[in-house]
Order: sequence, then C-alpha cells, then structure tokens
Amino acid sequence: MKNRLLGKSGRIAIYPGSFDPITNGHLDLIQRGSRLFDRLIVSILRNAEKEPLFSAEERIGMLREVAEPYPNVVVDSFDGLLVDYAANHSATAILRGIRAISDYEYELQMALMNRRLRPEIETLFMMSNEAYSFISSRMVKEVFSLGGAISGLVPPPVEERMRERFSKIKNKGA
Ligand code: PNS
Repeated sequence: MKNRLLGKSGRIAIYPGSFDPITNGHLDLIQRGSRLFDRLIVSILRNAEKEPLFSAEERIGMLREVAEPYPNVVVDSFDGLLVDYAANHSATAILRGIRAISDYEYELQMALMNRRLRPEIETLFMMSNEAYSFISSRMVKEVFSLGGAISGLVPPPVEERMRERFSKIKNKGA
C-alpha cells in the first residue's frame, strides 16, 4: 500500500460519516473534496448507537478499496467528538455533503455546535451531484433488502458486499 499517512503539512480536511454503506454520492464527494485539499481524511464514526449493517472494519475496507484512485485520501475511524479528532489530525476543515433542503437543518445544527466547540475548524458544505442527490445509505439498504436494484447507486464492490451480507441474513432466517 502507498504511504497515505504523509506528514501533517498542507491543508487537511476530515470527511466524517457513518458510511453504512458508502454510496456513489459519498464517493463523488470524496473525489471532489480530494481536489480541494492536500489531504482528505475520510473517517467513520465508530460509536454510533444503532446496529450497523457493516462493522467499522468492513466499512473501512470498502472505503479503502473505492478511494484507492485518490492518492491524497486516507481512510480512518474515530470515536468521541469530531472536532477533537479533527484537531488531533491538524485538520482545518470538516467536509459535509448537502443533498436537499431537508439535510440543511441537521447539518446547520452540527456545524454550529462544532464551531462553538472549536471555532478554528471550518465546516465546508458541498452540494451533492444532482445525479446522486436522492441517494442515502438508509434507502439503499431498504431498497436492496426488499429486492430492488441498486446498481449505479453504490460502487460495484459495495454492491457485491451487500449481496453477500443480505444472502447471509436471509440464510440465517431460513
Ligand atoms: O453520516 P452521518 O451519520 O450523517 O454522520 C454524522 C457524524 C458522524 C458526522 C456525526 O454524528 C458526528 O460528528 N458524530 C461525532 C460526535 C460529535 O462530535 N458530536 C457533536 C457534533 S454534532
């Protein structure tokens, strides 16, 4: 593997999220975000309350696979406060995607809380590519679990992993 944990120089941003699973909307943001910063750290929140479909390790593996073409993208995970994690990694920005107005309220609340905690870290919003603006991890899981097609909504290795996971769940239930 290439050494992606370069020095802590240059402009560093964190792209945090649950990524359960990563969608083409997330990947589009990674690609565009990676052009704006010297290093983009895509980081998975570990201590989410809800039961995830994929473990943090599985999600890290999938993210690394699909982020491989972007040499300045690092995949990691975190616990605790996002702004503390960002500061510990010398990041000056948090990157988030906005798909529709409905995302705005939650994102604004988070950005303002994060600013209050650490005013030196900026939250940067990028508009989703319109082709992906309706995609969410939750909906992808729901559609797939009910037999709908998700090609074009998630990267191919993720679709493959989803197929394996759901056939395992189905076999367990049989
Ligand atoms: O993909 P998601 O689930 O919308 O991502 C949410 C995430 C991980 C960015 C957010 O829950 C988060 O930053 N959690 C860490 C805890 C924290 O810092 N909370 C205070 C700010 S809301």
